[in-house]
Amino acid sequence: MTESGEVSKLDEYIRNASQTINGLLERVFDASQTDVTAEAARYSLIAGGKRIRPILLLLTGDLLEAERESLMPFACAIEMIHTYSLIHDDLPCMDDDTLRRGRPTCHVRYSEATALLAGDALLNGAYELILEQCSRSTPGAMRAGIYIAECAGIKGMIGGQSEDIATNCIHITTDRLYSIHRKKTGALIHASIMVPFVYLCEPGDKEEVRLALESFSGHLGLSFQIKDDLLDASSTSEQMGKTVGKDEADGKATFVTVFGYEEAERLFHAEALETYRALDSLANMGYDTALLVALTQKLHEREK
Ligand code: IPE
Ligand code: IPE
Ligand code: MG
Ligand code: MG
Ligand code: MG
Repeated sequence: MTESGEVSKLDEYIRNASQTINGLLERVFDASQTDVTAEAARYSLIAGGKRIRPILLLLTGDLLEAERESLMPFACAIEMIHTYSLIHDDLPCMDDDTLRRGRPTCHVRYSEATALLAGDALLNGAYELILEQCSRSTPGAMRAGIYIAECAGIKGMIGGQSEDIATNCIHITTDRLYSIHRKKTGALIHASIMVPFVYLCEPGDKEEVRLALESFSGHLGLSFQIKDDLLDASSTSEQMGKTVGKDEADGKATFVTVFGYEEAERLFHAEALETYRALDSLANMGYDTALLVALTQKLHEREK
């Protein structure tokens, strides 16, 4: 269990990191860009959000003693890719939702066409940041950029979203459900945690550390999305700041609609346990995992 001192250290870390991340994001999509698509991208990006992906990236970077400045473009790029995925996920042709990050969804506030373009703009902006960093940096930057592209693409997030919309909750195997969650949500969380490692290490270096980080990120990706499924069934849209309570009516394949609430909770705890095991193994290798443990616990206990 996390000590209360670690919790306040984590809160301070999140406050400071969010400020830096938000400052950089505001510079990428600054208010002087008056085009409606730029305005819509900014509307969704600056709306808030927990920023857990860039924070996980920075915390893992600190754990591995990476230089923060060289990782910032990757942290912001991942948040931009995540935000684009939310804008597209909310569209009428996908989940058809009206509330996100406490505001009307991008297509409700603007239009479907503008929301589609705003997502595209965020995705392209993310790769601009990544490529700029590649042009001025070491081969590690190139490895990290390729890693993000793979995790965000058809083998990862986009592939998972594609399977998600093609799948009905009645006709699904357990393996496929895990695979959807691993890809649609897990892949970007995995990328966030692996980027600092990939940036610093050549292929084949520090295998034991890589395996522990892969285990941590894999299980955290699953526990994060199963928790999201649980919250969809148990929380309110006001509390979450996004439309919830529709997964079942929409026939979505989630851990709750497939296994029922109690079994989904049990499967959530099983994944959560594995995240702490993986962090323990990193601690046994001498790494200071205190803040990552505190953040993991915060995510598992989250109410939104
Ligand atoms: C929401 O992600 C979509 C899922 C993958 C479950 P977050 O819960 O991280 O959303 P924000 O970024 O805080 O809005
Ligand atoms: C979305 O999963 C995952 C991605 C956006 C890639 P959900 O559809 O469950 O996310 P929410 O509940 O709308 O945030
Ligand atoms: Mg969805
Ligand atoms: Mg959705
Ligand atoms: Mg959901």
